[in-house]
Amino acid sequence: MSSFLPEALQSILPEAIQLLYLAAAALFIIGIKRLGAPSTARAGNQLASLGMLLGVVVTLFDRNIITFEWILAGIVIGSLLGAFAAKKVQMTAMPEMVAVFNGFGGGASALVAWGEFVRVGPGFLSTDALLTSGLSILIGSITFTGSFIAFGKLKGFIRGGRIALPGQNIINLVLTVTALILVGLFTWQPENELLFWSLLFLALLIGLFTVLPIGGADMPVVISLLNSYSGLAASMAGFVLGNNLLIISGALVGAAGLILTNIMCTAMNRSLGSVLFGSFGESSGVAAAYSGDKSFQQTSADDTAIQCAYARKVVIAPGYGLAVAQAQHVLKEVAQLLENRGVEVKYGIHPVAGRMPGHMNVLLAEADVPYDQLYDMDQINPEFPTTDVVLIIGANDVVNPAAKTTPGSPVYGMPILNVDEAKRTIVFKRSMNPGYAGIDNDLFYEENNQMFFGDAKKSLQELATALKELD
Ligand code: TAP
Repeated sequence: MSSFLPEALQSILPEAIQLLYLAAAALFIIGIKRLGAPSTARAGNQLASLGMLLGVVVTLFDRNIITFEWILAGIVIGSLLGAFAAKKVQMTAMPEMVAVFNGFGGGASALVAWGEFVRVGPGFLSTDALLTSGLSILIGSITFTGSFIAFGKLKGFIRGGRIALPGQNIINLVLTVTALILVGLFTWQPENELLFWSLLFLALLIGLFTVLPIGGADMPVVISLLNSYSGLAASMAGFVLGNNLLIISGALVGAAGLILTNIMCTAMNRSLGSVLFGSFGESSGVAAAYSGDKSFQQTSADDTAIQCAYARKVVIAPGYGLAVAQAQHVLKEVAQLLENRGVEVKYGIHPVAGRMPGHMNVLLAEADVPYDQLYDMDQINPEFPTTDVVLIIGANDVVNPAAKTTPGSPVYGMPILNVDEAKRTIVFKRSMNPGYAGIDNDLFYEENNQMFFGDAKKSLQELATALKELD
């Protein structure tokens, strides 16, 4: 134990350490709970970070690993790197950053398990510890290579489409079953080095082979799943080390990642199997991209300003294009101008609008849009029949009526914002190009719809100017 503490304190240190671990675990759980609502999310993040700091510092004391100076140096360097990443990384690049975090997390857990195995020696680890070491090395290594492939696909370093060997799904199944058998053999004969190296090699290969075939656009779901894997690997490493905090925090990450994966799949009306083993949009050719033979109406800033200014209720449906255009601040200004005129303004948030969970909430929070103006899909949908104008800003799939009307369409069955029930819809986008699903949108050709072409930021700036000129 830490020799610089007074003797009286040293005697209660083991209990104090367990209590501090408990406090850190409680901070994680309260933090995650608070992440559930936009108004408390920031505080939740801070509480969970505090829990992590407590956990790291207590572990370093507990194991008498390093001195105060090193702990402080670690905190300073870590904080600087974290602050730099938080400031520099664009909101649209968040999935890439999470992928890298997951990769390092999984890799670290595998290394911890491996390190403990080498430190204690194969003959001295219990069967439980050997089994959890094997699982940690397996899951952590899959997470490591899988996450870096996901990162490469999102960054465009690796081609986004399906990259696979013939019979890839069968190969993956065989490799996974073999790897699980190797974990069993490794537990049984830990001194056999060949088993260890084969397990490590196979796990790294499974990570590559599982993520390479998945389309780049499905990466957010895969990253959420890999996040869950990284938690499981950490939890297994916790068993190897006999560290309760690592077991709890790993299990929390594992469960949270799985829940999130499930929410994303449900909101996209896709099974996890179809994400992992099939490519999005390949299921049918029912709805193709815009072919140029259908007619639609266009509108301008002045016309949109008049329609909105004399409306009673305006709902804003944001999507991925809002994030690309970074138009959240000017969108808030437009909403404010309308409210000043007595128009009721609400934001309808689809659960998978954008490219990552909570994307729109984070974006709008950045512009200080009041949380009580944000409505979930289930809350806003009953309001569309009484809405005069819906401004659809850079959203496409999440308002595509084909989800309700066209069986066989890749989005069929996906819950959408029922904007087509409003009196008027105005779509802000740059062209007739499709969104993520790669399909045309019937809404664009509806009689009560108008297209406002241009970059969302520029169009909204023009709208704000036109609204001011109405005064
Ligand atoms: P999308 O369907 O991808 O449509 C976004 C639209 O924004 C595009 O049609 C694009 O049209 C427009 N756009 C792009 N840049 C723009 C700019 N600078 N200014 C104006 N418009 C711009 O987005 P969505 O409606 O938000 O739907 C999200 C999709 O992503 C869903 O299919 C969902 O399943 C999928 N997805 C989401 C998640 C999560 S968790 N959010 C995860 C995985 C997949 P132009 O090119 O014509 O401008």
